[in-house]
Amino acid sequence: MSYVTPNLSLPEDLKKIVLDFRQMSAFMQDPLIIDRAEGIYYWDIHGNLLIDGLSGIFVANYGHGNRTIIDAVKEQLERLAFTPPMHGTSPQAVALANKIAAVTPEGLNTVKLLSGGSEATEAAMKLARQYFKQSGKPTKYKVICRNFAYHGATMGVLSYNGVERRRSPFEPLLSGAVRVHPPTCYRCPFEKTYPECAVFCARTVEDTIRMEGPDTVAAVLMEPIGNTGGIITPPEEYFPILREICDRNEVLLIFDEIITGFGRTGNMFAADTFKTTPDILCMGKGMSGGYAPLSGIAFSDRIAEAFWGPEEAGVEFAHGHTYAANPVAAAAGLAALQELETRNLIHNCREVGAYLYQKLLELQEELEVIGEVRGKGLLYGMELVKDRASKSQFSPPIGVRLGKEALKRGLLTRFDPHWIALAPPLIVTTSDIDEIVGLLHESLKAVLQHLD
Ligand SMILES: Cc1ncc(COP(=O)(O)O)c(C=O)c1O
Repeated sequence: MSYVTPNLSLPEDLKKIVLDFRQMSAFMQDPLIIDRAEGIYYWDIHGNLLIDGLSGIFVANYGHGNRTIIDAVKEQLERLAFTPPMHGTSPQAVALANKIAAVTPEGLNTVKLLSGGSEATEAAMKLARQYFKQSGKPTKYKVICRNFAYHGATMGVLSYNGVERRRSPFEPLLSGAVRVHPPTCYRCPFEKTYPECAVFCARTVEDTIRMEGPDTVAAVLMEPIGNTGGIITPPEEYFPILREICDRNEVLLIFDEIITGFGRTGNMFAADTFKTTPDILCMGKGMSGGYAPLSGIAFSDRIAEAFWGPEEAGVEFAHGHTYAANPVAAAAGLAALQELETRNLIHNCREVGAYLYQKLLELQEELEVIGEVRGKGLLYGMELVKDRASKSQFSPPIGVRLGKEALKRGLLTRFDPHWIALAPPLIVTTSDIDEIVGLLHESLKAVLQHLD
């Protein structure tokens, strides 16, 4: 049997696998089984072509079949595939940690390498708690997080997710998760209007910290641009205001940049895009571009100092995973960063991203059902409304139908009941965008034609 082209008995063999967040009985009716990929394209096992309008799931920033990264991984596999994570490390892991420290905002000079996004957000939360425990503020443990947030699937960070449906099957979760409203300006939960609101949603976080008691609050955990909820993009003042609030109240600001890192928003990190340096920055997905499981956290010197001492002090970070700082993953990460830099992909992201935004605005001009287009770089979402003036939503919603129509036409997107998002690889060209937006247009028209 070939490991690369195994013989499957379909659909029976599918009964033994479980996909993420999918009802398998529904998946089995029309299963997508991907066989190979190149550039921005996937091919399924039947030879059908699919444009990757989502970089897999915000991962494949450097495109598929990237030679530089593949060669780095192959070479590393031949040389050293695994190092004992407690006893030692590898030159590749040390080099990657140094490189990450160099490309993250100034002051974030210590890096812990991990394997997946949830591992990174979990590690950030544990780091924040241990930091306060060993710097004389042991009562600080609560976390201000947001409605609609997604920070991962593991039990700890699940507590900070903002979607009830994802949390409730596993409750009770960790105590101390305090949720606030995100900056959903299009549907302001405070019924205010930007800029007259003076970014009330950010300013009111200070009230929340005060009501909880600053001595009990460890961190504010946020995605710079929230995916769940429809590419929630804050006004430019939002994060600078939060930075000041965190500083005033001795609360750590943690950015979950699992999606927004590595060029996605038109800068290396969204921290650069929003001109705000967090205390801890979580990264994953685009860190290896999908060529190996890789994630990490970078944190400030102030935090790092609390973990640096003689062995007897027992202040080392009490956290680890078997595959953390894996040398193959580290080699993939190094090659990915090289791709980002030598091919000027962040510049491409800005240029082609601006073109994508323009094309989506043109679509919005033509189709009343596109209420708002929002995002940055090559990360855009469109909110779908029945009526643009009242912003009323479709009932039943049309977003999932739209996403499925797009898939039928060979375009992979991120879709939810009331919105759809695009995040193609950063290697995408303007003619690719024409094709992607063209398919989206056709899909939208097909959905609208069949409205009751
Ligand atoms: C913002 C954000 N944080 C954390 C995660 C969790 O990452 P992973 O699925 O790699 O565990 C995700 C995954 O989609 C994410 O989008």
